[in-house]
Amino acid sequence: MADLFDIRRDFTLKVLDESDLLPNPMGLFKRWLNEAISVKTMEPNAMNLATVDKNGRPSSRIVLLKQIKPEGFVFFTNYESRKAKQIEGNKYCALNFVWHELERQVRVEGIVEKVPAKESDLYFEMRPAKSKLGAWASPQSKVIPNRNYLEQLMVDFSIQFNGVKIPRPENWGGYILKPHLIEFWQGRSNRLHDRIQYLLTKNGWQTERLAP
Ligand SMILES: Cc1cc2nc3c(=O)[nH]c(=O)nc-3n(C[C@H](O)[C@H](O)[C@H](O)COP(=O)(O)O)c2cc1C
Repeated sequence: MADLFDIRRDFTLKVLDESDLLPNPMGLFKRWLNEAISVKTMEPNAMNLATVDKNGRPSSRIVLLKQIKPEGFVFFTNYESRKAKQIEGNKYCALNFVWHELERQVRVEGIVEKVPAKESDLYFEMRPAKSKLGAWASPQSKVIPNRNYLEQLMVDFSIQFNGVKIPRPENWGGYILKPHLIEFWQGRSNRLHDRIQYLLTKNGWQTERLAP
C-alpha cells in the first residue's frame, strides 16, 4: 500500500472571495451544485448525513439530495431506518458535500423534519418501478438472514403489485433539513483555504470568514 503520509495535494483551482457571496446561502449552494454538475463530478448530489442518537452518539451515511427548497435540503429514506430513529430522538443533524474536482466542501447544520406526505407521494411516483418495489422490499437497517431473503421479498412484492399502481409504503418518504449554518470551503494553496460561514440570526443570514 502507498504510504499515506506521501499522499498530499495542493489546492489551486479557485478562490472564494467575499465578493462571490450571495445574500442567501441557498443561492450560493445552488450555484456550487450546478458547477459540480457541469464539471461532471461523480454523484454531485451525494451528501453525508450525520445524525446523533438520544445518548449523544453520532452516526453518518451518504444519502442523495433530491430537492432544494428555499427553506432547506430534501432527501428520501425509510422512516423506520436507523437514521430515522435517530432523527426522531434528536432533530439536530448535519450534512456534508464534497466536490473533489472543484476542491470544494459545503457543511450544513440544522433541524430535520418530515416533508408533507403529498410531497413524498409525488417523488415516489416519479421513481422507476423497480426502485418502488425496492422501497417495499427493504426493511432498511434491520438484520436479515441472507441476500436470498431480500431477493425473495422483491419477488413477493412484484407479484403482489403486478399490473397495479405501486403505492408509496407508509414507512418511506422525505425529510427536509432546515439549515441554521452553512459553510462554504474552497481549497487554496499551502492549506490556507477559504472558509466562509453563513449563520442564521434574528436579522437574517450573516456571514463571517473562518481560519482554515
Ligand atoms: C451514493 C449513495 C447514495 C445513497 N442514497 C441514499 C438515499 O438517498 N436514501 C437512503 O435511504 N439511503 C441511501 N444510501 C444508503 C445509505 O448510505 C445507508 O446505507 C442507508 O440509508 C441506511 O442507513 P441507516 O442504517 O443509518 O439508516 C446511499 C448510499 C450511497 C453510497
